[in-house]
Amino acid sequence: MFRWVFRNVSLVGRIRDVNLTISSRVTAVLGPNGSGKTTLLKLAAGLLKPSSGEVLRPESVGASLQNPYLGFSSHTVIEDLTLSAGSRDEALRILREAGLEHLAGRSPFTLSMGEARIISVLAAISWNPEGLVIDEPTSGLDQRYRRWLARLIDSLRIPVLIAGHDIDFAASVAQEAIIMKRGTVLLHSNVDKILSSEVLDRVGLEPGPIMKKALKLGLSPSRVARCVFLGSEG
Ligand SMILES: Nc1ncnc2c1ncn2[C@@H]1O[C@H](COP(=O)(O)OP(=O)(O)O)[C@@H](O)[C@H]1O
Ligand SMILES: [Mg+2]
Repeated sequence: MFRWVFRNVSLVGRIRDVNLTISSRVTAVLGPNGSGKTTLLKLAAGLLKPSSGEVLRPESVGASLQNPYLGFSSHTVIEDLTLSAGSRDEALRILREAGLEHLAGRSPFTLSMGEARIISVLAAISWNPEGLVIDEPTSGLDQRYRRWLARLIDSLRIPVLIAGHDIDFAASVAQEAIIMKRGTVLLHSNVDKILSSEVLDRVGLEPGPIMKKALKLGLSPSRVARCVFLGSEG
């Protein structure tokens, strides 16, 4: 079953002739700055249209953008979350479950980057979309919230695309990954193959120290990443 299909997709100046069939539940888009990750995610969410080619995607796709503040429109976090969750009670329940009810009355624009990221992810999920994209999921997050977000993504049942250069995080939640450079896809494979591929080094990406150690010891990097972030190897 496919989740997203990109057929000869180009967007002038941004990505070139991308062909992808994305079928894993969580897929990580990796690449250096300017390689086209954000563009790919916006196309996957239907926020951008390709100049040529076609994108097949789930009917509704939630998006947590690279700049999470751009997704906010209300005076308070609870109002913003109510817009997507449908009711104030549901919005409160979501905040409480995340341990963030103390943010309810705050202006979303005064949140720290990490808090804004979490709220934008919760908002994107709260309207029950059929797919989800999260751009730079761990930017601004401390280790505790990186783990929290990994567990959240792992617990979802909808297909998710994440983009960024946090390779260890990606390895913990994604089954497959894509390496991009200058608007093209260099490699699309399972996470362990991607992590041990020389292409990663070629595009200037580096796994973190734990992943490097895992690779040196011949362990599966994704299993080690799952242990670190999720406390499980499953
Ligand atoms: N609105 C835009 N207009 C023109 N070019 C853009 C625009 N947004 C991004 N680009 C260019 O498209 C390329 C891919 O950008 P982007 O998808 O944001 O990359 P990444 O997320 O990997 O850093 C970059 O060269 C970038 O400068
Ligand atoms: Mg980007």
